[in-house]
Amino acid sequence: MSKPLIVPVQDPASLERALQLFQDGKVVAIPTETVYGLAADATNEEAVLKIFAAKKRPADNPLISHVADVAMAERYATLPLVFYKLAEAFWPGPLTMFVRGAHGIASSVIAGTGQASFRMPNQPQVLELIRRLDRPLAAPSANLSGKPSATSAAHVAHDFVAEDVPLILDGGPCTVGLESTILDLKPLEEGKPALLVREGAISLKDLQPFLDVQRVEYFVEGMMVSPGLKYRHYSPQGDLILFEGTPQKMSTDMLQHVEARTVFIGTTEQLPVLEKSGFPVLDGGPYDRPDIAANRLYDLLRQCDTLGARQILCATWPSEEGIGKALRQRQKKAAGLI
Ligand code: TXA
Ligand code: MG
Repeated sequence: MSKPLIVPVQDPASLERALQLFQDGKVVAIPTETVYGLAADATNEEAVLKIFAAKKRPADNPLISHVADVAMAERYATLPLVFYKLAEAFWPGPLTMFVRGAHGIASSVIAGTGQASFRMPNQPQVLELIRRLDRPLAAPSANLSGKPSATSAAHVAHDFVAEDVPLILDGGPCTVGLESTILDLKPLEEGKPALLVREGAISLKDLQPFLDVQRVEYFVEGMMVSPGLKYRHYSPQGDLILFEGTPQKMSTDMLQHVEARTVFIGTTEQLPVLEKSGFPVLDGGPYDRPDIAANRLYDLLRQCDTLGARQILCATWPSEEGIGKALRQRQKKAAGLI
């Protein structure tokens, strides 16, 4: 089993190669500002099924269609007015929107939900590629199902073989590092608030000027809003245990939990104290910079796997709003707390 070929996304020859693979119904990993995606032509059923097989992803878990612009989304679904306003404000960028219905997209992309999901990623070469293909790219995060997402080409190469993913377009490390904000616009049709399904770099506060919106947890009136919410996500091999409070308090609490094969993920302030334990300590960044911790999270969880951590004692960062809230949600999910 050989490893996927990694080529720079900035090289025009790389785009040619990727375009050819998409036209041949193959899977290619693409960089985005959030996380890497495992992409295929969203209108090609056979190609899309290869994504599910490579990821070992359950068939009932739908995929986001990545478009080059609003006009491309318009070809596959009827878009409400607010969709245009939000796209104008936040695209290209880390915002995914659910809308009712879909036509012309492979049925396994929709996965029986009766709704399409669209995002325009903020990566110029990938947008050019989608434009040239002239079809959306269906893409989930480029990790094995249930594992931490991939924020570098090396992460993708670690998880997949060339037989499933022949090519990885390397766009360097992702600038955001956490998946997009997901917004379900359908409830607006019934005069109810839109639903913030997944927290991301675009916060509830950012969205509120544009529409009536509220957060969801797992179920809304007995209905699951997104099949993906029920699956375990982002999880390293070791047990992930989270600590809260000031860096000093977290250090005191963490040091009481040390066992064999512990790895620490601390705030920068904690490093000198934790290092005295003699166990590996990874730097999640300063306590007042949840954006840096968010950017590093998946790489740090993957490093814990490489280090053979049986238990990961992990700091948390301020989580009131924005990326800090998104970070906390991913950490809790990775720890199996939600
Ligand atoms: O930032 C991102 O959103 C990245 C990059 C690659 O764009 N993609 C990503 O995809 O995180 P994925 O599949 O790992 O997470 C998307 C989530 C899943 O939980 C999935 O169930 C849900 O969105 N989802 C996607 N399309 C849906 C649909 N039509 N209806 C309901 N849920 C949907
Ligand atoms: Mg994912």
